[in-house]
Amino acid sequence: MFRTRPEARPSVVEVLVGDRPVLVPAGASAAAAVLLSDLPAIRTTPVSGAPRLPYCMMGVCFDCLAEIDGVPNRQACMVTVAPGMRIAPQRGVRAA
Ligand code: FES
Repeated sequence: MFRTRPEARPSVVEVLVGDRPVLVPAGASAAAAVLLSDLPAIRTTPVSGAPRLPYCMMGVCFDCLAEIDGVPNRQACMVTVAPGMRIAPQRGVRAA
């Protein structure tokens, strides 16, 4: 029914979420890549270990904390994907 015009389609970027390669539109956030990966959780809470996935997508809830390119405690929704980026789940509290 509705389609994006071919010249308006964004290019895609391949990133790794956990061990999974994921194709994401260029300019999307790392949190979008997490949601596209079907990973069950990107972090667990420090107290109860409850699983979390990106929620607000605007830097408010901190449910998207992840290790991105080896740096822990990054808000994935505030980071734009780059080719070859590695987004890893974060378990509990991580020292910066
Ligand atoms: S999804 Fe809420 S801070 Fe990133």
